Amino acid sequence: MGIFSKNSSDREITLSDIKLPEHIGIIMDGNGRWAKKRGLPRSAGHKAGAQTFRKISRYCSDIGIKYLTMYAFSTENWSRPKEEVDTLMRYFKDYLEEALRDFGDDTISVKFLGDIYRFPPELTELMIKNETLSAAHTGMVLNLAMNYGGRAELVNAFRQMSDKLLSGELSKDDIDEKLISDHLYTRGQPDPDLIIRPSGEHRTSNFLLWQSAYSEYYIDDVLWPDYTTEHLDKALIEYSKRSRRFGGV
Ligand code: IPE
Ligand code: IPE
Ligand code: MG
Repeated sequence: MGIFSKNSSDREITLSDIKLPEHIGIIMDGNGRWAKKRGLPRSAGHKAGAQTFRKISRYCSDIGIKYLTMYAFSTENWSRPKEEVDTLMRYFKDYLEEALRDFGDDTISVKFLGDIYRFPPELTELMIKNETLSAAHTGMVLNLAMNYGGRAELVNAFRQMSDKLLSGELSKDDIDEKLISDHLYTRGQPDPDLIIRPSGEHRTSNFLLWQSAYSEYYIDDVLWPDYTTEHLDKALIEYSKRSRRFGGV
């Protein structure tokens, strides 16, 4: 339980004291190292990481975060050994089936960032069902970045805009920052205010390249399977103290 939870005994800082980000992005990293440290196969790290994902996404929804983007699988992650990719697909399937079962009393709206048609057809179908059946939910938007890469997303956007230019639907002067944003997977959503990367790596790894122009980054050394609501609280408190200048003074 995090310090913002209703049941917590630590009431020093409450939700009303701090400015919450509207949109949080999390690069869920460190599953493999977590497993290695324990002498376990990497698959055990992914299994534990999947549990952390469930816990943290629920917590974000509970404390009133409006948009949460979870980086689950990059366009580059296909280069991992087949056995590892297969394991990840199995955990994705488990989660997507579970989410569908629980949707009845859920308020979270799920969206997928990335080309979902690259996945095995049964997974793609589950993704479409999850998106469709939760579309009318009015709670937190949970973006699952799967087969996502910031560069691939921009290539996709440029292709769509080129088609419109060629057909005359758009002219050169229509191209501006808003138009580009409107052709990204996150169209209509605010840019992430805060991006959290556990496992101590200081890089974006192709996450939300366009959208993160002015995001605050928070690096945590903890490995993703060990990530708790307390770690998130710390990031939120630190975020609330930062001064975002957006190029101004
Ligand atoms: C994140 O953990 C999960 C995915 C990228 C799918 P990693 O598997 O990258 O774990 P490390 O970085 O090897 O520890
Ligand atoms: C980023 O982690 C991708 C996800 C968390 C899904 P990686 O482990 O793939 O990134 P690198 O290889 O350390 O940059
Ligand atoms: Mg990694």
